[in-house]
Amino acid sequence: MSVTEEAATTPNILLEAKDIVQVFGSGAGEITVLKGIDLQLRAGELTLLMGPSGSGKTTLLSILGCILTPTGGHLDVAGKSTEGLDSEGLADVRRKHVGFVFQGYNLFPTMTTTENVLLALDVRAALVVDPPAHAVSALDAVGLAHRANAYPAKLSGGEKQRVSIARALAGSPSVILADEPTAALDAENGKAVMALLSEVAKDPNRAVLAVTHDHRTIPYADRIIKIEDGYIVGEERPGETGDHGNGSHAAKKRRVTTTATKALGGRYRIRRHD
Ligand SMILES: Nc1ncnc2c1ncn2[C@@H]1O[C@H](COP(=O)(O)OP(=O)(O)OP(=O)(O)O)[C@@H](O)[C@H]1O
Ligand SMILES: [Mg+2]
Repeated sequence: MSVTEEAATTPNILLEAKDIVQVFGSGAGEITVLKGIDLQLRAGELTLLMGPSGSGKTTLLSILGCILTPTGGHLDVAGKSTEGLDSEGLADVRRKHVGFVFQGYNLFPTMTTTENVLLALDVRAALVVDPPAHAVSALDAVGLAHRANAYPAKLSGGEKQRVSIARALAGSPSVILADEPTAALDAENGKAVMALLSEVAKDPNRAVLAVTHDHRTIPYADRIIKIEDGYIVGEERPGETGDHGNGSHAAKKRRVTTTATKALGGRYRIRRHD
């Protein structure tokens, strides 16, 4: 294969973790929670991280999102090494390149949906031309432009989670990390949120990783990584199982995504103002 052909077929890796180790505690209380994790996130993909409670999922997400510095290993985010960065340097990488979606939404109750998204732009010091327009565009991308002036208390759980996705998208970070984004939602809202994350991941400049216990999320995944007791024990690409008929994962993913996202009003593309 020529260099040009190789470049054309090599997936764009937006995050790469190598041999990540995390130890908590000391002495007799020391526990090794992550035991040498290798992981890559590629542009245009929704990856699910699945595993039992206590297997290290949230810890790994915190490390990938530069919230926690691992005991050992290497992490590149958006093509840059985080080696040797102090907490301010890591915070800078996080602000520029990572958007988080949490199970509990973490919205400020005294701010409208637009203000919650604007706050994220502020925190990121995102260089967008017109922040209010960017915020509305992010809300539009999650089907909530009509709720731009609503306060979180007036929103359903699914709507709150969609605002938190809009907030994660604000400033167009290249990596979106979601920790159990459907855990607090009923089946319908859970499907809508997964469909949305799946759409968000279609951006060729973005990768999405969602930690989940929820098997209902599987139809939306491009790739599933399984973690147990601090080790990656399996990886599958459900769409590449060889069944390319109508019953294939890819066909099923298309169907569920289309059905659930239609319910959101059919707006999924965040316009970039920067
Ligand atoms: N700051 C900490 N100090 C000590 N131990 C910790 C700390 N954070 C996590 N742990 C331990 O690390 C292990 C993995 O925790 P983690 O939260 O990553 O699991 P998880 O896979 O996200 O579980 P769940 O599915 O229940 O959310 C657990 O045994 C937990 O008690
Ligand atoms: Mg967890």
